[in-house]
Amino acid sequence: MTFEQLTGHEDPHPIYEQVRALGPLVRDSGMWATTSHSLSNKILRNQRFGVRYSDGTYPGGGLLPESFLETDPPDHTRLRRLAMPAFSPKKIDEYRTRVEKVAESLLDADEFDLIADFAAPLPIAVISDLLGIPDSDTAEFADYGALVAASFDSGVTPEMAHANDKVLELFERLIAERRARPGDDVISSLVAAEAEKKLTAQEVMGTLVLLLVAGFETTVNLIGNGTRALLDHPAQWALFKANPGLAPDVVEETLRWAAPVQMTSRIAHEQVGEIGKDELVNIIIGAANRDPDVYPEAHRFDVMRVQKPEHLAFSSGIHYCLGATLARMEGDVAFRALARRMPDLKQAGPVTFRDSVVIRGLKSFPVSRS
Ligand code: HEM
Repeated sequence: MTFEQLTGHEDPHPIYEQVRALGPLVRDSGMWATTSHSLSNKILRNQRFGVRYSDGTYPGGGLLPESFLETDPPDHTRLRRLAMPAFSPKKIDEYRTRVEKVAESLLDADEFDLIADFAAPLPIAVISDLLGIPDSDTAEFADYGALVAASFDSGVTPEMAHANDKVLELFERLIAERRARPGDDVISSLVAAEAEKKLTAQEVMGTLVLLLVAGFETTVNLIGNGTRALLDHPAQWALFKANPGLAPDVVEETLRWAAPVQMTSRIAHEQVGEIGKDELVNIIIGAANRDPDVYPEAHRFDVMRVQKPEHLAFSSGIHYCLGATLARMEGDVAFRALARRMPDLKQAGPVTFRDSVVIRGLKSFPVSRS
């Protein structure tokens, strides 16, 4: 399989199925790939695999500065723990109130772009709250966050390097402000931990960039992919409108059926079966989520299906998405608001796709209220 084949494809599944037909673990151009749910889950949970090579380097273009997503224990454990307070149940409840307000305020137009005008502003509002970014800076963070995220696929272009510098500059300013006047946000708690020598200034920055990018570039696609799936499956959309309590099921089935993050990878830290030390395994989340061995009629979008075992949209093991509860809440609020306020929602023009192998989602999705 060549990953170029997948770029910008409306439907990567025919290619995933070609890979699946070759077996649960496939070797191609010096790399391994798996489409199997159980093997993916095993590798993600196996401590003999990590995210770095034995010389300490990280594969591909990562975040600048590096974050704990790109770090193995013990540093990963230490840094993840320091970011956790931003995701407490109390915090998630506070964010919910904010997301509900934003969702309501966005659903007034008759014709709009579901991505730019609805799906994107919700996660942006949450990240702004979480990081304590003033409203006046939010738009700038959103633009730059998207550019930095795009660099995962296309490498670091001069434009992205500039965007990255701007994000770091904005965070520098917020860090200085929180040092002077601490608040109840994640920047303040990380700055306090830095003063206690629990992490370095570089690690504070890496964590902030991770939270910014991880929260923007994924949740927008959960909302976009889920709405499109519902409109393309009128019986499911009708079922949901009649039973808004199914919102969590819509979220889970969207995550399984059209996972915003389609792929991750792990590196063997020692020989594990056929996989040699320092060899990389691509975990094709999008394919594992439609593994017929675990999900009957795996290609069918069915909000009523029993989600067992859990899909791998949030990964598994020690890097399991730290924002999963938050993302689920955002999806829940978004789908309920759409069903209630826009029961006759219709696609109003052709969609365009994100030009990415890793992130699956829509660039634009014109819709109308009726
Ligand atoms: C639907 C939305 C989301 C999806 C599909 C998603 C998916 C993922 C995946 C697949 C990973 C792990 C990658 C790996 O194992 O290599 C991950 C990690 C992470 N996510 Fe999410 N994510 C979402 C939303 C969020 C949000 C809203 C936040 C926070 C604001 C967030 C923060 C993180 C962080 C901090 C990590 C790193 C965890 C670690 O390395 O220990 N994510 N996410």
